[in-house]
Amino acid sequence: MNFQDELTKRTDEIEKGIREFLPKEEGFAKSMAQAMNYSMLAGGKRLRPLLMQETYRLFGGKEKVIRPFMTGMEMIHTHSLIHDDLPALDNDDYRRGRLTTHKVYGEAMGILSGVALLNYAYETMLLAFERTAYPERVIRGLSVMAEKTGIHGMLGGQSVDVENDGTPLTKEMLDYIYRNKTSALIEAAMMTGAILAGADENSVAIIEEAAGKIGLAFQIQDDILDVTSTEEELGKPVHSDEKNNKVTYVTLFGIEEASRQVKELSEDAVSLLKGLNKNNEFLYLLVEKLINRRK
Ligand code: IPE
Ligand code: IPE
Ligand code: MG
Ligand code: MG
Ligand code: MG
Repeated sequence: MNFQDELTKRTDEIEKGIREFLPKEEGFAKSMAQAMNYSMLAGGKRLRPLLMQETYRLFGGKEKVIRPFMTGMEMIHTHSLIHDDLPALDNDDYRRGRLTTHKVYGEAMGILSGVALLNYAYETMLLAFERTAYPERVIRGLSVMAEKTGIHGMLGGQSVDVENDGTPLTKEMLDYIYRNKTSALIEAAMMTGAILAGADENSVAIIEEAAGKIGLAFQIQDDILDVTSTEEELGKPVHSDEKNNKVTYVTLFGIEEASRQVKELSEDAVSLLKGLNKNNEFLYLLVEKLINRRK
């Protein structure tokens, strides 16, 4: 298997799937739909739907039920990015190689289209009921998604993050922020993949643990790229953390130690996944490749 070719193929399929569910740009609320689609179609690695699909495959999932969940997942993630870039939060002008949503459509539409995407994610995921013989799995998936997105997940993490710009933080507090603002959505992606495929409670707990580590590693690498990359390569501004006086893994530990932790967390995650005694080589490789990602 050529990893890069497989990755491109799978990401292209996800891209097509996303287009299937986007709102139509028509009627009085047309500009809202345009703002939603602008950010959804700006590219992005599509990592969370990819991890969801590969975890679903790991547990033998074969139904079409996964597709609305993958798109819903990416809508929730995109909502988090639109709001993360707003002037009241990180105040960034570029995302996914384009001007940010609020720069193009104005701040009010940035706020509204962000929330609309969050809501539309659930409208989309509810379509899964029409595509499954196991509605109880869909209910469990939706409840994981709701919990990991809200106050006990991504939004909780974002609130503590933004509240502490310029404040010295302990590692414990920084870990709380990362586990919530970033790991929570990766946990949601992989856990719903497992749940929709019918994985048992114990396996879902192992997936949650592995995804937590993948998410933490992902955010630490994001901090590293914020100081070592370029705007062209990343498609978003560098030095955003410094601008906002944020404590990060890089400011706490330095680049070298932060990189070591990315590697260690990712390897631990792969061991946990392999320990399930299923087989998905592509998934293991994907997690390993994230260690040295440059975007
Ligand atoms: C950016 O996520 C936000 C973080 C959690 C660091 P991604 O790096 O996955 O962004 P896209 O989806 O590829 O644009
Ligand atoms: C944001 O972390 C995580 C979420 C958007 C939930 P960052 O603020 O570091 O993400 P980027 O660097 O803007 O993508
Ligand atoms: Mg932020
Ligand atoms: Mg940001
Ligand atoms: Mg960042």
